[in-house]
Amino acid sequence: MRSFSLFSLLSLSPLLVNGQLSGTVGPLSSSSSKASTKTCDVTDYGAVADKKTDIGDAISQAWDDCSNGGVVYIPPGDYAMSTWLKLSGGKASAIQLDGIIYRTGSDGGNMFMIEHSSDFEFFSSTSKGAIQGLGYEFHKDGSLSGPRLLRFYDVQDFSVHDIALVDSPAFHLSVDTCTNGELYNMAVRGGDSGGLDGIDVWSENIWVHDVEVTNKDECVTVKSPAKNILVENIYCNWSGGCAMGSLGADTNISDITYRNVYTWKSNQMYMIKSNGGSGTVENVVLENFIGHGNSYSLDIDGAWSSMDTVDGDGVQLTNITVRNWTGGEENGAERGPVKVVCAEKAPCTEITIEDFAMWTESGDSQSNTCENAFGSGSCLQEGDGSSTYSTAVTDTAAPSGYSATTMAEDLTTAFGTDASIPIPTIPTTFYPGATPYSALAGAGSAAATPAATAAAASRMRRRTWH
Ligand SMILES: *[C@@H]1O[C@H](CO)[C@@H](O)[C@H](O)[C@H]1NC(C)=O
Ligand SMILES: *[C@@H]1O[C@H](CO)[C@@H](O)[C@H](O)[C@H]1NC(C)=O
Ligand SMILES: *[C@@H]1O[C@H](CO)[C@@H](O)[C@H](O)[C@H]1NC(C)=O
Ligand SMILES: *[C@@H]1O[C@H](CO)[C@@H](O)[C@H](O)[C@H]1NC(C)=O
Repeated sequence: MRSFSLFSLLSLSPLLVNGQLSGTVGPLSSSSSKASTKTCDVTDYGAVADKKTDIGDAISQAWDDCSNGGVVYIPPGDYAMSTWLKLSGGKASAIQLDGIIYRTGSDGGNMFMIEHSSDFEFFSSTSKGAIQGLGYEFHKDGSLSGPRLLRFYDVQDFSVHDIALVDSPAFHLSVDTCTNGELYNMAVRGGDSGGLDGIDVWSENIWVHDVEVTNKDECVTVKSPAKNILVENIYCNWSGGCAMGSLGADTNISDITYRNVYTWKSNQMYMIKSNGGSGTVENVVLENFIGHGNSYSLDIDGAWSSMDTVDGDGVQLTNITVRNWTGGEENGAERGPVKVVCAEKAPCTEITIEDFAMWTESGDSQSNTCENAFGSGSCLQEGDGSSTYSTAVTDTAAPSGYSATTMAEDLTTAFGTDASIPIPTIPTTFYPGATPYSALAGAGSAAATPAATAAAASRMRRRTWH
């Protein structure tokens, strides 16, 4: 269950009817009920909002007191963090980050690592909480050796929402071997460079929705192993783009849906990347994609030259449906909208490309490439994969219906890598015409302490249910 507030009960139905998830996601109890059990305000543990004093130890002590039923509360204010946290164990807890944490330490690793926990929520009640990684201090010297911002490992029944993750020295958010998670209402804004992934997920039963990513590497990406992942209403606002991979030996990915993905000025709209390797990817749907100004669009590449060859005949891709893509690609003659290149010894099967209408933004032709990929649509050939082929098909006329809307505020100049990146406001729209599933936590209300929220929630329960 996502939470017990009335608002969330009303919005619970979409995830119950969604096939690609295997069950409910999110914390089992609300942050207000946790707060009424116990609140550990970090300022009572030595935290000072002076942007100088290390907040690490204060959060660690507050976690010790509140991780088994309670809320670690970081009030509004600017804090510095120079020691990293491994917050382990616990149950029925939350971290309410209403302040902004600025990285001041320079160790590698993860600024926040949450592990072996359950019924957990990491959120901002004002939608203004942020971690500012100041990664440009590393990147301006060409270094990617700094920390990642946030990593979840072996966490069950959890959510992360209403926070901004900014300018990570390395990756922004990794979700590793977790189950039943919900990530939403987030803005990730990183430097214009590879190696600065937005959100990477390798887990089971995870719903990622209403998220904006700016960077030049992974937007929202699924890695192996993964199962039952639903990624919806995603705005790659100048990014590397969404992807699956890199895939290597013993790949095990199934039941993945991406829906409503808007991609602007990225390397690709969706890429599945491997080079050799083994194992399978199956039952994938990529639907309702809009792209503008991207290098690649659909890019399934089983011989991806940017990764070293992995032992094995190739990763087997089966039952992949690409549906309802519109918009344009940057240069269709150089990089057409469809590239499906599968390994000779691991041909792709049951691939479907339908309602696909994209056209080049420069020049007057586009070239689609298919290799050892079987199914229907575009340049795919019918068959079961027992033969090999390679074909390139050039279009010289725009398909009907390719024209697609743009988001009003696409980023027009990259943030670069050598100057501080401003903390964004979390947007309230992530895909044209799609209403986010949840209002921002901070919509229309002033900051509230966990205790006040708990009191208000219990007053509301009494008023409504008696
Ligand atoms: C793939 O992962 C599923 C769990 O998601 C597991 O049950 C299955 O055994 C795995 N398959 C292989 C070949 O590892
Ligand atoms: C193909 O994948 C879709 C989406 O996961 C699923 O609904 C469908 O049952 C799969 N088809 C087969 C033949 O497994
Ligand atoms: C196709 O995507 C567009 C937006 O990109 C959406 O408005 C439309 O409803 C989708 N069509 C179907 C059949 O889902
Ligand atoms: C896209 O990114 C730019 C720069 O961060 C920002 O100004 C703009 O508001 C973003 N668009 C939306 C709709 O959030």
